[in-house]
Parts: sequence; structure tokens; C-alpha cells
Amino acid sequence: MINLGVLASGRGSNLQAIMDAIDDQYIKNARVAIVISDKKDAIALERAKKHNIQTLFMDPKKFADRLMYDQEMAKKLEVHKVDLVLLAGYMRILSPEFVRRFRGRLMNIHPALLPSFPGLHPQRKALEWGVKVTGCTVHFVTEDVDAGPIILQYPVPVKKCDTEESLVLRILEKEHKIFPKAVKLFAESRLKIVGRRVEIV
Ligand code: GRF
Repeated sequence: MINLGVLASGRGSNLQAIMDAIDDQYIKNARVAIVISDKKDAIALERAKKHNIQTLFMDPKKFADRLMYDQEMAKKLEVHKVDLVLLAGYMRILSPEFVRRFRGRLMNIHPALLPSFPGLHPQRKALEWGVKVTGCTVHFVTEDVDAGPIILQYPVPVKKCDTEESLVLRILEKEHKIFPKAVKLFAESRLKIVGRRVEIV
């Protein structure tokens, strides 16, 4: 059984997808040990509480800098014996020290087909660029934002009538499939990082 630690800042629909996948036994050998948020009113915290999962709000204002914040967060994750950290809509940039500490066991979900459209508002950028296909990516996190080894991707065609909102929702549906799948593969020890590639064994 592996322990998951989830970092989330907002709505928490990806967290919900993971908790549901565990409840439904799609992910068999993992449990969410703790959900941490930098936002007091994050819906993600409410969702976790409903599943009787321990939550923690960590107020960035109470820490002198990013490094100290991340050190405390790492300690909390380690107290809960977390094996895999999931960034599920976590909006703070992580310090390189934190990323190094959890190297190979830190995953992010991004609503674009990386390396296209890293950073904020990738769905809007995809529409503005005029791409015919966008999608979502689960990847291991490295020091560079949205640039780590790719685990899974799912394409989403862009329709002529799409608005940013409609595209956000269609991509989100696919996020809810590939994030639990990536966690399942990790929990089954089926992900092997070879340089920039992730092999599914
Ligand atoms: C998702 O689109 C995710 O890809 C991005 O932030 C959003 C979080 O949504 N990193 P939610 O909080 O999981 O509903």
C-alpha cells in the first residue's frame, strides 16, 4: 500500500477523481494520506474531509519565504509517510529543494499536450494559437515548470465552436481519466524513468 500526498489550491476535481478511483478499487494499493492546500477555502479541502482524509491548510503568510514553506510541507508529507506527491491544481511554484527531495515521486497534471502551452491558461493559449488538437499531460516534476518526463497524455480535438470554458471542461474530463491511471501505474511499480522518457513496464 502506498501513501499519497495531494497538494491542491482550488476546486479539487482531480483530487476527487483520485479518491473515487481508490473507492472504486480502480487504484487498489494506494490511499490518500493527506491533502495540503495553500488556500484556506479551497474546495479540495472540503472534498477530502468528506472522504475522512486528513487535511492541512498552510498559510504562506506565516512563512518567511518559499523555501521555509516548502520545508515545512515536506516535513508534513514525510510524517504521513507519503510515497507519491500529486500536484492537483496546486498553484504555487515549488522550490528546487522540494522538487529534488521528491524527485521521481512528484507528479503534476497539466491541461495541454506538453511541451505545448506550459504555464498559466494553456486552454486559452491553445485556442488563440489555433491548434486543432490539444489535451492533457501527466508528468513527473522537475525544477523547470511543466517540463519533466511525460507519463501519460490524452488528446482533445478543438472544435470550431469552442470557448475557453468549453475546452477547459472537455480537457478536464480526460484529466480525470489519466491522472488516476498514472497513479495506478506508479502504485503498481510500472513506471520507469529513463532520461527524459517514462517507460511503462
Ligand atoms: C486542472 O485543469 C489541472 O490540469 C491544472 O489545474 C486544474 C485543477 O483543477 N493543473 P482541479 O482543482 O483538479 O479541479
